[in-house]
Amino acid sequence: MNEKTLLSLAYGAAFTAGERAVSFADLEGLLPSFRSGDAWLRAGAAEGREGFGWLNLPRRNVDDIQTLARWLTTRESVVQIGIGGSALGNLMLHGALLPPYRNELPKAKRGGPRFFMSDNVDPIDNRAIWELIDPESTAVVVVSKSGSTAETASNFLFFWEKLRDTLGEAAARERIVVVTDKEKGILRPFVDETGCKSLILPEDVGGRFSVLSCVGLLSAWALGIDCKTLLSGAAAMDGALGRAGSVLENPAWVMAGLFYLHMKKGRNMNVLMPYADPLERFCEWFAQLWGESIGKDGQGSTPVRALGAIDQHSQIQLYTSGPDDKCYTILTVRSAAASLGQKDIALPAAPEKAFEKLSYLYGKSMDELRNFEAGATAAALSKGGRPVLSLSIPVLDAYRLGGLIQFYEYVTGMMGHLMQVNPFDQPGVEQGKNYTYGLMGRAGFEAQAREVETLSAKINERTASLAG
Ligand code: PA5
Repeated sequence: MNEKTLLSLAYGAAFTAGERAVSFADLEGLLPSFRSGDAWLRAGAAEGREGFGWLNLPRRNVDDIQTLARWLTTRESVVQIGIGGSALGNLMLHGALLPPYRNELPKAKRGGPRFFMSDNVDPIDNRAIWELIDPESTAVVVVSKSGSTAETASNFLFFWEKLRDTLGEAAARERIVVVTDKEKGILRPFVDETGCKSLILPEDVGGRFSVLSCVGLLSAWALGIDCKTLLSGAAAMDGALGRAGSVLENPAWVMAGLFYLHMKKGRNMNVLMPYADPLERFCEWFAQLWGESIGKDGQGSTPVRALGAIDQHSQIQLYTSGPDDKCYTILTVRSAAASLGQKDIALPAAPEKAFEKLSYLYGKSMDELRNFEAGATAAALSKGGRPVLSLSIPVLDAYRLGGLIQFYEYVTGMMGHLMQVNPFDQPGVEQGKNYTYGLMGRAGFEAQAREVETLSAKINERTASLAG
C-alpha cells in the first residue's frame, strides 16, 4: 500500500474446494457480466434513471449543502429526524470520522453542535432527546426521501409541537430544516407553507444510496467532517473502478463475484467484520444497503454485522465450526488510532515481575494487537475452510471513507446485476409502510388494513403463554 491506496483486497482464501467449490476460473468466467454490469450502472447514471444517481454524487455541486451546514454549526444542538437511509449514513459518517463520545466533549474540543438522532419511534428516546436540548439554540433537521414515512412523521410532529409550544410558531419555523423530494410527500407542502429552510434530495438517488447527498453531508459538514475530501475519495474510487478492465485489477468485481458465486453454493450470509470501533456503524449502513438492495425474488444474502475483536469472543466459534453458509470480510485499518489524529497506545516496554506471563504484550501497541487479531481470525476461518476476504484501508480518513462508501455501493449494484434483480427498489419496505398506514387509519389504505387484519388473525390462531 502507498499513500494513494484507497483500499486493498486479499482474496486468496476466498475459494473453496469439494462439492460446493468456488474457483478462480468461476470468478474469471463472470468477466462478461462484470463488463455489462458496469456499462448498465454507468448508462443508468448518465441517463438519470431512478436509483442510479448515487454514481454521480461525488461530482455534484454541494454549495447549497455547505451554506446550510454553516448555519447549523452556529447551533448548540442538532436533532436529525429520519430512519433507514435517512439516518444510518449519518451515523456511519459520524461514527467513522468524529471522536467517540463527542456529545460529551466540551464545546471547544467538540468544534460544532451536539448531535442527536431521532430515528426509532420511541417515546422514551424522543423525550430524552428533548430534555437534553435547549430549544432556543437547537436546529431540527427532518429527512425523508418519500416525505411520508410514519416513524419520521410521528417524531417530527412531536418535536414540531414542542418547539412551537415553547418558542412560538415563527421561532420554531426558523429552527427547522427539511430534506426531502422536490415534490412528493407531506414535507414539501410544509416547506412551501412555512418557508422553512430546505434542501432537495436528488430524485434519482434512493434512500440507502443517499449518504453522499444532502442526506448525509449536511450534518457531517456541520459537525466538522471534511465533506469535500469525502467526495473526492468517492470520485477517486469511481474513477479507479471505471478504469479497471480485468477481474484481477478490480476488487469490486472480485468481491461481488465471490459473494455471488458463494451465494449460489448456499453460502447466503455475508458477514462484515471490521477490526476498528469507528467502523461499527459502517456495518449497520452496509446491512441496509445489502439487505434491501438484493433481497428480491426469493434470492438474497443476509448481511451479518460483526465487530472485531469483540465478536471473536462471541461469534467465532459459530463462524469457524458452525454451518458453512457464510462469506466473511475482515475489514482492517492499518493505522487505526492515527485515523482520528490520535496516537496509538504503546503498552509498557519492560515486563514487571508480577506480569511475566504477559511479556508477549510488552513493547507492543493496541493497533498492533488488533491487527494481529484480525489476521488470526482470517487464518482461523481459512483453516476451517470458510471463504474469507481481507479488505484493508491504510488509514480511516475522509478520503478513504468516501472511497469505501462508493466501493460498497458499486459492489451492491453489481451484485444486483449478477442476480438479475433491481437493486434500487424496495417493494418489501413499501409493503410494511402501507400496512402501517392502513392500521393507523390513513385514508386510501383501507384495503391494506383489512389485509393485515386477515394476516394477523392467522398469526394469532395459535398462542402459547406463560404466567408466573
Ligand atoms: O432505502 C430505502 O428506500 C428505505 O429503507 C428508506 O431509507 C427508509 O424507509 C426511509 O424512507 P424515507 O427516507 O422515505 O423516509
